Amino acid sequence: MPQRINPSILSADFANLEAELGRIASADLVHVDVMDNHFVPNLTIGRPVVARLQEVSPIPLDVHLMIDDADRWAPGYAETGAYSVTFHAEAAADPVGLARRIRGIGSRAGIALKPGTDAEPYLELLGEFDQVLVMTVEPGFGGQSFMPETMPKLARLADARARHGLDVWLQVDGGITTETIGRAAEAGADTFVAGSAVFGAGVPAEAIEALREAASR
Ligand code: DX5
Ligand code: ZN
Repeated sequence: MPQRINPSILSADFANLEAELGRIASADLVHVDVMDNHFVPNLTIGRPVVARLQEVSPIPLDVHLMIDDADRWAPGYAETGAYSVTFHAEAAADPVGLARRIRGIGSRAGIALKPGTDAEPYLELLGEFDQVLVMTVEPGFGGQSFMPETMPKLARLADARARHGLDVWLQVDGGITTETIGRAAEAGADTFVAGSAVFGAGVPAEAIEALREAASR
């Protein structure tokens, strides 16, 4: 199964985003964390910056919305041309309807589950999504420690995916390093977000390769 490494620009230099993209040319997608200071206690960037990134990035954008009222705002991110748009389960009144709208606009649709959010309601709905993001830290900040207690949930999702014969991507986000990525891969993840492990490294391209290797070990 192919594995993807998605560096998170949350740990990049926000004053030089275009140059930072050049340092991760070997990445599969670039993970863009949108926070509204309501859904999470942190504030990052919004649609204008994402739209501009979309114009300059040679790498497809994987947009992770940590915002309230996703039903209202998520389609606008899909309209920027983002490769994928992921919203949190709690932030949407109608997650399946919203995923269909995102797909209709032409992006892949993702649903994100916080560490305390049960996967159960979505196991029989996996076909409605292109990816499920399993948060491996509490959303809001980079540089936190991986929560191994989220792995059984990931394994249940991987199980349901196999049972239904789907190719929905299972993404992990938070605390992913060369030390932790193997556990997530073993539990069924195929798409790995890493912020500090990539941009905190001297040479981000080498960090990406080290993560790839550790994931397939
Ligand atoms: C956290 C964000 C992550 C963050 C991960 O809420 O969703 O994407 O950038 O950062 P690290 O890899 O440093 O845990
Ligand atoms: Zn994220």
